[in-house]
Amino acid sequence: MNQEGKVPYVVTSKSFTAVAINAASKAGEWIKSKLGTVKQLDTKSGAPDLVTEVDKGAEQMIRKLIFTHFPDHALLGEEGVEPGPEASKKALEQALDEEYLWIVDPVDGTTNYVHGYPFFSVSIALAHKGEVIVGVIYDPSRDEMFVAEKGKGAYVHGKRMSVSQQETLNESLLATGFPVGRDTTLPQNMAGLNYLAPRVRNIRSGGSAALHLAYVASGRLTGYWEVGLNAWDLAAGSLMITESGGSITDTLGNPYHLGVRHVVATNGLIQQELVGALKEAKGTGE
Ligand code: IPD
Ligand code: CA
Ligand code: CA
Repeated sequence: MNQEGKVPYVVTSKSFTAVAINAASKAGEWIKSKLGTVKQLDTKSGAPDLVTEVDKGAEQMIRKLIFTHFPDHALLGEEGVEPGPEASKKALEQALDEEYLWIVDPVDGTTNYVHGYPFFSVSIALAHKGEVIVGVIYDPSRDEMFVAEKGKGAYVHGKRMSVSQQETLNESLLATGFPVGRDTTLPQNMAGLNYLAPRVRNIRSGGSAALHLAYVASGRLTGYWEVGLNAWDLAAGSLMITESGGSITDTLGNPYHLGVRHVVATNGLIQQELVGALKEAKGTGE
């Protein structure tokens, strides 16, 4: 019922995945159109943790597009949660009881967006009873839509994705990020970086966790790890990894779930070796 006591008209004919793709594509186009025009640049949990009116506007847009079709579903979006890891954990705990939960990062890679560095994305996942069943990551700069559906595979440009074939760390191209927790998560990640840099083919840091996951899923990266993330950074990408034949765990090697904050995602072949290396480096965040 709406405020006037009437049953609202609901457009239900679209599938979950179609709605996710539509929302990511509309928001992505809008974000791209606003590139270079940011007026309100604020910080959240600390100096490197940025937010703009575009992040907030994109989340609003995604919310509206999803609720047009599924008004009974719940949505956990980054911009609807207070900054900092404690608030994120609490918001996720409260949302986990929902049968259908959309998990949204409207702009993953805000620092890049603010600087005009074209590596940012829209990340949208749908979880059913805590399990991710749809994941969509859209890169508006390259017009790449990465899509995964539980049990049906993962696709980019309509082509099935599969992870890379490297079998050892030594021949791997990895990615990581530099988390915003300068005194907490950042030193942990740096420990892993120091240890791994001389042991792998090379390491990249693009600045969008979601795109890093999509790149592992599509075989462009062998693996990705980062300490100190949130459910909205990882949910869509987690399904993409498993649906393209890869592995995703926490940094101790335990199975992925929505509460994981320290992540290792790979082609599967190097998963154990990478988890082992992070333990050795004391870079697991635990
Ligand atoms: C950030 C990006 C970045 C990662 C940070 C995240 P945001 O997300 O994914 O790559 O290193 O840890 O917070 O704030 O741009 O949505
Ligand atoms: Ca993010
Ligand atoms: Ca974000």
